[in-house]
Amino acid sequence: KKLVIINGPNLNLLGKREPEIYGSQTFEDYLEALKSKYNNVDLEYFQSNIEGELIDKLQEVGFSYDGIILNAAAYTHTSVGIGDAVKAIEVPVVEVHISNTFSREEFRHQSYISPNAKGVILGFGLKSYDLAIESFIF
Ligand code: DQA
Repeated sequence: KKLVIINGPNLNLLGKREPEIYGSQTFEDYLEALKSKYNNVDLEYFQSNIEGELIDKLQEVGFSYDGIILNAAAYTHTSVGIGDAVKAIEVPVVEVHISNTFSREEFRHQSYISPNAKGVILGFGLKSYDLAIESFIF
C-alpha cells in the first residue's frame, strides 16, 4: 500500500512546540518508528507551512495513492481551499489531530476537512497517526 502523511503548519516544530499538548517527540523520530512498524507499507511524509503547497500535494497524490493521512493543523479550522481539495480528489483521506480538538477552544471545533474525510482520528497524541495507518490496512 502507498500511503502519505501530510502535515500542515507548525507541525515541523513537534517536540519543542507546546510539549504539554503535543508531546516531546519530534515527528521525524516518530516517523522512523512508524516506518519500522509498518515495513510493508510504502509510507511517504510531507510537511508544509504553506496552504497552497498542501493543496498541491493533495492534488499530486490524490488520484493514485491508496490513502492520505492529513493533519492540516490550524488550516483545518480555516481553509475552504483544503476542504475543497479533499472533496475533489479520489483517494480516501483520514483526518488526524494529535490533540482532542473538541476539548480545546471553540474555534478548533470547526473542521473544513471532516465533511469529506473517510474518518477522523484525534486526541491520541502521535499514536493518532498509527491508528490512521491501521485504518487503511484492515
Ligand atoms: C492540531 C490541532 C489544531 O487545532 C492546531 O492548530 C494544530 C495541531 C493537532 O494535531 O492537535 O496545529 O491539528
